[in-house]
Amino acid sequence: MDTQTKLGRLGLFDAKVPRYTSYPTAPHFKPTVGPDLFSDWIRAIPEGAGISLYVHVPFCRRLCWFCACRTQGTQSDAPVAAYLETLKAEIAMLALELPAGVYLSRLHWGGGTPTLLSPAMMTELTGAIRAIAPFTETTEFSVEIDPNEIDGARLDALAAAGMNRASIGVQDFDEEIQKSIGRMQGYDITRWAVDEIRARGVQSLNADILYGLPHQTRARITESVQKLLSLNPDRVALYGYAHVPWMAKRQQLIPSDALPTPQERLSLFDTARRLFLWDGYDEIGIDHFASRADGLSVAQRAGRLRRNFQGYTDDTAEVLIGLGASSISRFPQGYAQNAPATGAHTAAIRAGRFSTSRGHVFSQDDRLRARLIEALMCDFRIDAAEITRDFGISPAALEAMLGAVAKHFEGHLSLDEKGLAIPVEARPLTRMIARHFDAYGMNAEGHSSAI
Ligand SMILES: C[S@@+](CC[C@H](N)C(=O)[O-])C[C@H]1O[C@@H](n2cnc3c(N)ncnc32)[C@H](O)[C@@H]1O
Ligand code: SF4
Repeated sequence: MDTQTKLGRLGLFDAKVPRYTSYPTAPHFKPTVGPDLFSDWIRAIPEGAGISLYVHVPFCRRLCWFCACRTQGTQSDAPVAAYLETLKAEIAMLALELPAGVYLSRLHWGGGTPTLLSPAMMTELTGAIRAIAPFTETTEFSVEIDPNEIDGARLDALAAAGMNRASIGVQDFDEEIQKSIGRMQGYDITRWAVDEIRARGVQSLNADILYGLPHQTRARITESVQKLLSLNPDRVALYGYAHVPWMAKRQQLIPSDALPTPQERLSLFDTARRLFLWDGYDEIGIDHFASRADGLSVAQRAGRLRRNFQGYTDDTAEVLIGLGASSISRFPQGYAQNAPATGAHTAAIRAGRFSTSRGHVFSQDDRLRARLIEALMCDFRIDAAEITRDFGISPAALEAMLGAVAKHFEGHLSLDEKGLAIPVEARPLTRMIARHFDAYGMNAEGHSSAI
C-alpha cells in the first residue's frame, strides 16, 4: 500500500473534519449562553486588562461564487450605514459593562468586506472603539481588504485610524480558475493594493490563497504562487477550498466536475508548500506561511503560537469580544455567539440587549481537550509535562489518552514520555488526529468551521 493510500485510510481525505479554530467547534454551541451570561463575563474582565475585539461586517459589493463566508451582497450604502449605527450602539452597550482601564490588544475587522465602509464610516467606527478601549503602542489593528473594493481615500482613513496589519484576498491569479469561481481579479489590481497598503506603513501584509479550486493544476498553482511571491507578503494563508454547496448556495455555480480529486488536492498543497519553503518562509501550523521576522513566525519559535477564530495568532489577551452579526466572543469561562442573521442582531441591539444567542460554558474537560487540540494545531506536539502541570490530569491518565490516539494512527505518530508528536510526513493528518481528542465532534461534521 502506498503512503497516500495508508494515510487515506486514516481519514486524510475526509473533507468534513473541522479546522478547530475553537473547541468545541461552533456547531456544538447551545442556546444556554445568552445576553445575561455574556454581560457577566464582560463584567468579570479584570480592570486594566488587555482585550481583543473582532468586528464583523457582513456585506460585500460582489458575491464570489466560491465564498462560504457569512455575508450578503449590497450595492447601496443604506444597509451599511444602518449596520454601522447598530455597531455603534453595541459598542456603547459594551462600554457600560466593561471594567475600567481596559485597553486594546488586537482589533480585527473581517467579513464580508469591511473595506466597503466609506472613509468617514471607518473613522467613526474606530473612534467609537478607541473611546471604550484605547490603543497602546503594541496594539495590532488588522483589516481584511478586498483589492477590488479599496481606494486611496479608504486606505488613508484606515492608516489614520491606526491600521498596521492588512490581509488581502487573492485566491488564485489564473484567469480560467477565477472565471470558474466567480472572482475576477487581475494581478495589476492586487499589485496596486499591495503597494498602496505598504506605502502607508503597514507592517505585516497577509494574503489568502486557495488550493483545491476547479481547473487548478500543479503548473497553475506554481505560477500563482510565484506571482504571489513577487508581491513579498509577510504572511500567506494557504486554505483548502471547502466545497459545501448545500450550505453556501452560490457554490452551486462552481463546476464540481472540474474540482481536483482528494489526492490531487494534497499534491497541490504540497507544491505550493514547497515553493513557500524554498523562498524562505516558515511553515506555521497547518495552513500558514510567514517570513522569519513576522510575528507569527517569532511566536512559533518561542512556543507562543495560539489558535483563535481568525486562525493563527500571537495574541496573549484572554478575552476576545466579537461585535456584529454572527461574531463569536471567547472568555476564560466559555464562548458566546451573536445572532447569526443581521436582522436578528440589529433587532436585539435596537431593543437595548446583546444579541448573544448561543455559546458554550467550559468544563475542566473542555479546557484540557481545547489545549491538546490547540497544541497539535500550533506545534504538532503535545508536551506531557505542560499538560499534567496545567490541567490537573495524572501522568497515567494522559498517557492512556495519548496512547489510544497513537495506536489508532498505526505508528504514524511518535509517542514517548515527553508526549505525542506528529512527524512531518504525517502532518496532513493533523486535523484528523485533533478530532480524536474532540469529545463532541468525532461523529459530527465540521462544515460550519470548514473555512
Ligand atoms: C472574508 S473573506 C476575504 C475578505 C475580502 N472580502 C476578500 O474577498 O478579499 C476571507 C477568506 O476566506 C477564504 N474563503 C472564503 N470561502 C472559502 C471556501 N469556500 N473555502 C476556503 N476558504 C474560503 C478566502 O481565502 C477569503 O480570502
Ligand atoms: S470572498 Fe470576500 S468579496 Fe467575495 S463574497 Fe467572500 S467575503 Fe465577499
